Amino acid sequence: MAGVGHYVPERILTNADFEKMFDTTDEWIVSRTGMRERHIARDDETTSDMGLAAARMAIERAGCSASDIPCVIVATVTPDYLFPATASVLASKLGIDGAAAFDIEIACSGFIYGLTVAASLIRAGVYRRVLLVGAEKLSSITNYDDRGTAVLFGDGAGAAVLEASAEDCYLSSHLGSDGSDPSLLLIPSGGTVEPLTVDGIEAKRNKMVMKGREVFRFAVTKMIDATDTALAKANLTRADIAYVIPHQANRRIIDAAAKILDVLIDKVIITVDRFGNTSSASIPIALSETYGAGKLRDGDVIVFVGFGGGLSWGAVAWKWSA
Ligand code: ACO
Repeated sequence: MAGVGHYVPERILTNADFEKMFDTTDEWIVSRTGMRERHIARDDETTSDMGLAAARMAIERAGCSASDIPCVIVATVTPDYLFPATASVLASKLGIDGAAAFDIEIACSGFIYGLTVAASLIRAGVYRRVLLVGAEKLSSITNYDDRGTAVLFGDGAGAAVLEASAEDCYLSSHLGSDGSDPSLLLIPSGGTVEPLTVDGIEAKRNKMVMKGREVFRFAVTKMIDATDTALAKANLTRADIAYVIPHQANRRIIDAAAKILDVLIDKVIITVDRFGNTSSASIPIALSETYGAGKLRDGDVIVFVGFGGGLSWGAVAWKWSA
C-alpha cells in the first residue's frame, strides 16, 4: 500500500441539526450509535469528485503520478451513473483514460472486496499498480424523513495506491454474502424488480430502508467470524493484531465485536463519531487518518473488517509496510 488518502466534504450535519428536523435527541443518537456529526456533500459534488480528491492524496503520498496507474477500482453504492462505471469517470478526471476501470457494488463491504481483488490482480502479475477507491454520497440515498436511518449516514471517500513489492503484505482474505432476504437493507426501487416511478419517488422508495435490529445482530457475529477466519488463513491469532480497522456503522457494534475478540479498544480505529457511516469509504478514510497520525509501523498486522448490504461481510489481514 504505497499511499493512502481521504476526503470529506466541508458541510457538517450535527446531532443538533437532526433535533430540529425530527423527534430525536443528541443523547439518543450518541448512546445508540456513537455518532456526533457527519459530512454532507454539496448538491453539485459527485461521488467521483470526492473519489478524485482522495485519490490525489493517495497518489501524492505514493510518490507516483496518475499516469503510472493502469487500473482503477471504485467501491460504491452511490455511483455517478447507473453506468458508466464511476471508476471510468474517475480515471478520466485523473487524466488516465485508457486505464482499466470498474466498480464494485457490495455496499459497506466494498473496500474489503476491492482490496482482495486489487491485491490479487497484483499478485497474479496482471498489474503492478492499482488505485482502489471507496467513495460514497450516501446523503443522496438517505431518507431524511426516517429518523431511524437518517442519523446514520455521511459522505466521503478514501483511496489506496497498491503496488507490487518484494514483501507480500496481503496476508489473507475472507469474503461472504447472503442474498436470501434483501429486505433487511436495500433501496427498494430503481432496479429491475421495481422500476422507479413518480409515485415511487414520492414514497421515497428510491432511498435506503433498513431493519436496524436484525442488521445489528448479524454485524457483530460476522465481524468476529470474518476476523477469526482471516487470521486463521494467515496462520495468525488475535494476539498478533496491531490494529483493527472496522467498517464504521455504529460504535456499539464496534465495541461489542472488540470485546468478544478481546482486542484492546485502543487498537481499534474509530471515526464513527465524526463521519458517521460512509459505507465503502469508511475503512479507507480511517486507514488514511491512522497513517496521517503516524501510528502505523512496518510489520504491523492490520485487520480490515466490514459488513453491510447484501447482506455481505469480509475481512482482510494485511501486513503494513511503508
Ligand atoms: N431518535 C430517537 N428515537 C429513535 C431514532 C432516533 N433517531 N431512531 C429510532 N428511534 C426509536 C425507534 O422508533 C424505536 O422506538 P419504539 O420502541 O417506540 O418503536 C426505538 O428508538 C428503538 O428503535 P430500534 O431500531 O430498535 O433501535 P436500536 O437500538 O436497534 O438502534 C440502530 C437503531 C442505531 C439503527 C441500530 O439498530 C443499528 O445500528 N443497526 C445496524 C445498522 C448498520 O450497521 N447498518 C449496516 C450498514 S448500512 C449499509 O450497508 C449501507
